[in-house]
Parts: sequence; structure tokens; C-alpha cells
Amino acid sequence: MAGNTNVLKWEMDHGHKNIDTTRPWTLKPYHELECPQLKQIKTEVLNWLEKNLPDYKTKKGFWHRIDYKDLARKCPSILEWCKFIRVPAREISIALLTEAMAGTGVPLHVGAKPLIIKINIPICNTNDVYTEWYDIPQDVLNGLPITKNPFGESIIDLDDLDNTVADTYPRIVRYEMSDYPIIFNSQIPHRVVVGKNAKFPRILISVIPIKDPVHFLAH
Ligand SMILES: [Fe+2]
Repeated sequence: MAGNTNVLKWEMDHGHKNIDTTRPWTLKPYHELECPQLKQIKTEVLNWLEKNLPDYKTKKGFWHRIDYKDLARKCPSILEWCKFIRVPAREISIALLTEAMAGTGVPLHVGAKPLIIKINIPICNTNDVYTEWYDIPQDVLNGLPITKNPFGESIIDLDDLDNTVADTYPRIVRYEMSDYPIIFNSQIPHRVVVGKNAKFPRILISVIPIKDPVHFLAH
């Protein structure tokens, strides 16, 4: 294990009331949210997918930019819920994990800056699929090349670390989504790992807030 990593700072900051968004590792990796509308959201989103993305069960690639204004209109319970948690949404996208991606999952990555927070809402087949956040020292991250994510935004290229990360750096947490949406820290390097009993397609929708609601991730 590498020494002197962000976890040390993370633990030192534990209980600290000040939120410093320039040091995303001082924020929690994720936080589960109440969602009384979840059943309705699932039904509406699956209906929308059947009509608007008929090949969603076999598609390749994890993130799919969609006509989110249409999705929001046809699935009104999503924005109803955003109102419930008091987080105005800027955009909604779909994340699909199909059988074709079972062997790889989603390799280690971070979200595009300056945004820290994303909100994921489980739609189906989230069991036995895990999101793992890793504590990689900032000087290692600073030395990595920059690449573009599928949306053309600049991000740190963590591909070369994906095979060795589990043996090299401390895992902060491993999380299996259940029946709660999560608000999560996309600036801590994370990846999606698929278990042997996972079912496909695993579907979630991701809400990008207008402003980072970082208070949810304060310790
Ligand atoms: Fe991510």
C-alpha cells in the first residue's frame, strides 16, 4: 500500500464543519437519499427507454446523452423528486451496463471539473454491481495525462492505473446500489466492478445539479 495518501487527510478532516470544494477528498464519497417517488420514476424511465432508446438492452458504452428535456417531460416524477430534495437539475443522462460490458465494468475515472457532485438514481439490476472509490495521492493524480470523456470534457486519464489500483492504493469504500438514489463525489477516483451474479442491463439515471449541493457530503 502507498503511504501518505488522501485518506489520512480525509480522516484528519473528519468532523470538520468547513467544506472545502478544492479538496474533494474531504467530502464523503456518497450519501443515500430518501426517494418516495422511486417506484414511479422506475416505471416512467423504463417506458421512456422502450419508446426512445429501443436498443437499450444491448447498447455499448456506459454513458448516453439523451434528449433529457423530453425525458423530464415524460417522466415528471424525476423533477418532482429533485424538488423534494431541493436540488435543481441541469441535465439528466442514462448509464447502461449491458452484458457486453460484464467483463470490464467501468474503468477507474473521475468526473469532469469543476462539478463535484452527481446524483445517481437506480432504475434496474443494480444488485451485485459495485462502485469503488480509491484514495490516490494528489501528486500521483497531478502527474497523469489528460484525456477526454465520452462527452468531450477534459479529465485525468486513469486507465493505466485500473489494473493495479486495488493492490496499490487504499479503497475508501465499495458500494452496491439498492433502492436509494445516491448523491456522490465524482472527483474521487472511482470505478464500477461487476459481480458474477449481476443481471443486465443495469440501468441508472444520473442527474447533474445546477450547483454542487456539497452539504450532503459534509462529514
Ligand atoms: Fe463516475
